[in-house]
Amino acid sequence: MRSLILVAAAGAASASLVLPPISPNLAQCLLSPLSYSCENKTAVNTCCVPTQGLVLQTQFWDTHTGLEVQGQRLPRKAWTIHGLWPDNCDGTFEQYCDFSRQYDPKPDPPVLGNVTVPIVEGVKLDEVIKSFGRHDLLRYMNKYWVAQGQPSPEFWAHEFSKHATCFSTFDTKCYRNYKRHEDVVNFFDTVVAAYKQYPTYAYLAARGIVPSNSTTYTLRGVLRALEAATGATPHVGCAADGALNEVWYYSHSLGAPQLGIYKHLNTTFGATCPETGIRYLERAPGSE
Ligand SMILES: *[C@@H]1O[C@H](CO)[C@@H](O)[C@H](O)[C@H]1NC(C)=O
Ligand SMILES: *[C@@H]1O[C@H](CO)[C@@H](O)[C@H](O)[C@H]1NC(C)=O
Ligand SMILES: *[C@@H]1O[C@H](CO)[C@@H](O)[C@H](O)[C@H]1NC(C)=O
Ligand SMILES: *[C@@H]1O[C@H](CO)[C@@H](O)[C@H](O)[C@H]1NC(C)=O
Repeated sequence: MRSLILVAAAGAASASLVLPPISPNLAQCLLSPLSYSCENKTAVNTCCVPTQGLVLQTQFWDTHTGLEVQGQRLPRKAWTIHGLWPDNCDGTFEQYCDFSRQYDPKPDPPVLGNVTVPIVEGVKLDEVIKSFGRHDLLRYMNKYWVAQGQPSPEFWAHEFSKHATCFSTFDTKCYRNYKRHEDVVNFFDTVVAAYKQYPTYAYLAARGIVPSNSTTYTLRGVLRALEAATGATPHVGCAADGALNEVWYYSHSLGAPQLGIYKHLNTTFGATCPETGIRYLERAPGSE
């Protein structure tokens, strides 16, 4: 497989990158200096910098999947992937931006303003990944991008259709001789690469915050651990009973998120956890 090796230089940042085998034509982006998304107001090539450029890498902490009997289990000592989301620069967001790339059998929300999101059933994105020969990617996604209450590939379809279609750098026109579903595989590679940069379980464990059904934690303690690791305050989410279940890491991407270079930023959304009494639950027996 051929990889495009690209050397990006923008201001002080300089990095040598190996892009995944399926990538858009980013060579066109070397014609002008790379800038961070949301930070350069002059017109830029939308294939090079996302127009909705506040990038969120979002993760879950679940105690069970509900599909354990089918072998859908949670990874030990790791949070799981929710997705990679393109918010507008001010923290608002759009969704289901291209119905021609709608693969979500359960659109949520089902209606946008006065438009009903079409229901599309039967597109199996795990099969699509296999058809590109990306068994490595599929194995990783099966392990770390695990849905609750639905088969994981259905959830991947939801995430792609709802969010990736709003990322301008994954538009089909950005690929040289676009082949159907290249954008899907490229998005999944990009999500996985971003997720690997935020090992939440290890961030928390480094400060003694580990799953426990008998201890509780404070919001300040949780945020301090995540701030110490990333230099910014993410959104942390809790269920109504105070059980920690989500983290959203905010950033601007240097050029396209496909390059995987993120400047960490504070959340625009605050936290939905109580100040004290946060529970970080142990997984149910048999769920890992
Ligand atoms: C903003 O983008 C324009 C067009 O690519 C470029 O000429 C300019 O240098 C960029 N400015 C900054 C501050 O990066
Ligand atoms: C649907 O909403 C859009 C944007 O709000 C508006 O421009 C359009 O006229 C509406 N269409 C109908 C059929 O109501
Ligand atoms: C994030 O918030 C902290 C605390 O309010 C502040 O000190 C810091 O400058 C903020 N960072 C950014 C990148 O805005
Ligand atoms: C921890 O508590 C949660 C919520 O009550 C429960 O679902 C889970 O099975 C418990 N885990 C263990 C190892 O007891």
